[in-house]
Amino acid sequence: MSARPAAATARPTALPDAVPDGAPGLDTTLTEFLIGEQRKFPGATGEFTALVNDLRLACKRIANVVGKGSLAGRSGKTGTINVQGEEQANLDVLANDMFVRTFLRGGTLAAMVSEEIDDVMLIPADQPRGRYLLAFDPLDGSSNIDVNVSVGSIFSVLVDPDRDAAVDAKAFLQPGRQQVCAGYAIYGPTTMLVLSFGRGVHGFTLDREIGEFILTHPGMQVAPETSEFAINASNSRFWEPAVTRYVDECLAGSSGPRGRDFNMRWVASLVAEAHRILLRGGVFLYPRDDRASARRGKLRLLYEANPIGFLIEQAGGRATNGERPILEVTPSALHQRTGFVFGSRSEVERIEAYHRDHNTRPYDAPLFRARGLFRDVASQG
Ligand code: F6P
Repeated sequence: MSARPAAATARPTALPDAVPDGAPGLDTTLTEFLIGEQRKFPGATGEFTALVNDLRLACKRIANVVGKGSLAGRSGKTGTINVQGEEQANLDVLANDMFVRTFLRGGTLAAMVSEEIDDVMLIPADQPRGRYLLAFDPLDGSSNIDVNVSVGSIFSVLVDPDRDAAVDAKAFLQPGRQQVCAGYAIYGPTTMLVLSFGRGVHGFTLDREIGEFILTHPGMQVAPETSEFAINASNSRFWEPAVTRYVDECLAGSSGPRGRDFNMRWVASLVAEAHRILLRGGVFLYPRDDRASARRGKLRLLYEANPIGFLIEQAGGRATNGERPILEVTPSALHQRTGFVFGSRSEVERIEAYHRDHNTRPYDAPLFRARGLFRDVASQG
């Protein structure tokens, strides 16, 4: 009589319930999250999942170098100027190479646009062409790197509108509303990846010991109200009346028309600013102004304002160029600049209303200024 192996006769056992969700060290990974998302679309080919995997890889590569700081031997400037007319840091160039290298052979993209490259970058003919277009800022806020302040990568994914035609700049000139994925990586005390596929915003923290992003911030929401605003006030003499009025009123605090005190913040790193606003509310303004360099704004529509605007809207906040939702603007150039205001809904709506008010009507010096200490002293003298 031949003995049958024990395994063949054993009853199949259901997987144990013994490992509850959220058990230490067993939280949801980005991989699990992506598999779950892919299953919601039974016809999915896995190409989108592969693309997000490559985004993760590019950001992990950059996090690794940024996290080494001076030890990586990559500090300082290259001595070259990018398409924006800005001095490039060595890490800008390296981070750009990391994105390009990661995606060149991934088979998910038809073309890329980067802050650091003048023109559309096509996937070479000897590589498989994918169905997506990627616009990215490889290292945003890079003036902060050498002083060890948080920086980040920002990315926006569109669908290639014509898979049979050669990709040109026009293919990228789609309103931000058409993004299928947007997000950023923030390289701070921890590295986080914050993503939206158009179904909410989710934050993942890099666990360096296991090399995986863990879902730590599911369903991020921007607080609807705030008493915190962020603007580079050194440009105040160039602002439009709507912005001057908004900031004047915040600065007047409890003795002005807002009747409460406000905090002001400015990190000069869009990713850090957006992250703070996603976590605790706030409003960010980089408006267009009267400087020759900023008449159309400073930030770039395709790979800064659009992806951040998409995340903010997905998290229940609001994002505008002052006149209309940023995601409704049809871009006319790859590296187009824009005024950009985003954050807690009620404050952004107020700023939009001030823009409407002061389109035709100038902003008069506010009465609450006359109550200031120095004016009182001056008028007594
Ligand atoms: O676009 C690059 C950037 O560094 C953003 O990250 C940041 O919000 C802004 O520029 C800072 O600009 P400024 O140096 O004019 O305050």
